[in-house]
Amino acid sequence: MRKIDIFDTTLRDGEQSAGVNLNTAEKLEIAKQLERFGVDVMEAGFPAASPGDLDAVRKIASSIKDSSVTGLARSVKSDIDHAWEALKVAECPRLHVFIATSPIHMTYKLKQTPEQVVQTTIETIKYAKQFFPIVQWSAEDAFRSDRDFLAQIVEQAIKAGASVINIPDTVGYATPQEYGALFKYLKENVPNIGEAKLSAHCHNDLGMAVANTLAAIQNGADQIEGTINGIGERAGNVALEEVGVALYTRKDFYEIETNLTLNEIKRTSQLVSKLTGMAVQANKAVVGKNAFAHESGIHQDGVLKEPTTYEIITPELIGETSNNLVLGKHSGRHAFQDRAISMGFELDSESLNHAFIQFKKLADRKKEITTEDLWTILTNEQLKDSDTSVYELETVGVQYTSAQDPLATVIVKTPAGNIVEETTSGAGSVEAIFNALEKTVEGEVHVLDYRVSSIGKGRDALAEAVINLTFNGEDLVGRDSAQDVLEASAKAYLNAVNRILLQSQMKQLLVTV
Ligand code: KIV
Ligand code: ZN
Repeated sequence: MRKIDIFDTTLRDGEQSAGVNLNTAEKLEIAKQLERFGVDVMEAGFPAASPGDLDAVRKIASSIKDSSVTGLARSVKSDIDHAWEALKVAECPRLHVFIATSPIHMTYKLKQTPEQVVQTTIETIKYAKQFFPIVQWSAEDAFRSDRDFLAQIVEQAIKAGASVINIPDTVGYATPQEYGALFKYLKENVPNIGEAKLSAHCHNDLGMAVANTLAAIQNGADQIEGTINGIGERAGNVALEEVGVALYTRKDFYEIETNLTLNEIKRTSQLVSKLTGMAVQANKAVVGKNAFAHESGIHQDGVLKEPTTYEIITPELIGETSNNLVLGKHSGRHAFQDRAISMGFELDSESLNHAFIQFKKLADRKKEITTEDLWTILTNEQLKDSDTSVYELETVGVQYTSAQDPLATVIVKTPAGNIVEETTSGAGSVEAIFNALEKTVEGEVHVLDYRVSSIGKGRDALAEAVINLTFNGEDLVGRDSAQDVLEASAKAYLNAVNRILLQSQMKQLLVTV
C-alpha cells in the first residue's frame, strides 16, 4: 500500500479561525496530542506574526520529537529569519514558505508580474535552504492559477531546493474532478516532479474539502494538509480525522496507509474543541456527539441484531469508550493517579494532589464521575496558570424570582490582591453576573457571544461556559467549567479577561526583551 504523509495545521491555519486565540501552554498541549495522534508534520504557527507566536513555535519545536515541526513564512527574508529563530531547536527543522500564484492574487495583492513571482520564489527558497534541510513551498491560490504558469513555477521551486510542493485550494473553489485533475497534470507536466512530494491543502467553502483531498490522493498526492475538527478560516480546512477514517474504512478502495493512531481521534478532537472554544456540531462525521447514535427503532433493532447493519465505523475505532463510568466518591488517590496515567496525563505530585482535591469536591456533589469529568479536571490542572496576578472569582451568588430582575453579587480578587465585592441587577441571572463582574475589572468589556453546554450526560453533569468578549478593544474567547452553570459563566468571563491581560503583559515582555 502507498503511504501518505499527514500535515496538521490546526495551530496555524486552524488558529486563524475567527475568535480563536490559543496561548502558548494550550498550543503545547495540542501539539503533544497531535504527536500522539501520529501526524507526520505539524505546523506550529507563523513565527513572524508576533513575538508570542515565535515563542510558541520555539517551545513546540523543542519538545516534539516524533513529528516534524514546521512554521509558516511569507516569501521575505525577515520571515525566514524569524522562522529559523523559532525552529532551529527542532530535531529536523522544516520551513513552509508561500507566495500567491493566481492572476487575481498576483495583480491585486502582490502587485507583481508572474516573472517577478518566479524570481522571488527562487530567491527565497535558495535563501531558506541555507538554514533548513527541508523546505516546503506553497503556491497560494494554486487552484485558480494558470496551469502552465503553475507547472513552470513548481519546476523552478524544485530546482531551487523545495522538496515538498503544496497546491492549495485556498478559497475552497475546486470540485473533486478538477482538483484531482490538477494533481495529475502537474505529475505529467513538471519534468522534475519526481524530486519532490506533492501536497494537497483544501478549504471547505463549498463543503467539498474531504472529497477534494481524497481526489488529490487518488491522483498522486504524497501529503495532505488539514486541521482537527476542520477548524480554520471561513468554513475551515479539511478535517483530518474525517480523511483518516475514510482512508481506513475504505482501504479496499483507496489502498492508502497513514501513520495516524485512529483511537486518539476523540481525545484530539475534544482537546481542540475545548481549548479553541469551537464546538463540534452534533452530527459532524466521525467526532460529532451523534456520530454513533442510532435513533430510529428500525436502526436500533438492526444494530442490536448485528452492529454492521447500520454501523460502518465503531466508536472504539476513534477511541470513544462506552464504559464511561470511571470513579466514585470512595475512590482513593491511588486509583485516581492510575486513571490519570492511563488517560495519558503526566502531572507532578503537586498538580496531581490539587487535581485529586478537585475530584473529591466534585465527587461529593456528583454521584458518578465520568471519563469526561476526569478529563476536564486533569486538562484544567495541566493548563492551570501559574501566574497569580490575574482576576480570581472568590464567590458568586444570585437572587432570583420570576417576579423581578435578578440581583447578582460577586466577590473577586484583583491582580493587585484586593478583594472587591459588587452587587448589580440584570435582565437575567447571567447578565446580572456579567454586569457585576464588569464593575470589578479595570477596563471596558463587551460580551460578543456566550454559550453553555454540558460535559457528558445526566442532570448533574458539569457545565462548560464559553464566552467571546472584547476587553479594552482586544477580542478573545474565554472558557471554564463548574458544576453550576452560573459559576461556570462567571469563571469563563474572568478567564477571557485574564487571557487578554496576560497576553498584553507577554507582548510587552517579549518586546522589551
Ligand atoms: O490556504 C492557503 O493557501 C494557505 C497557504 C498559506 C498554504 O494556508
Ligand atoms: Zn489554508
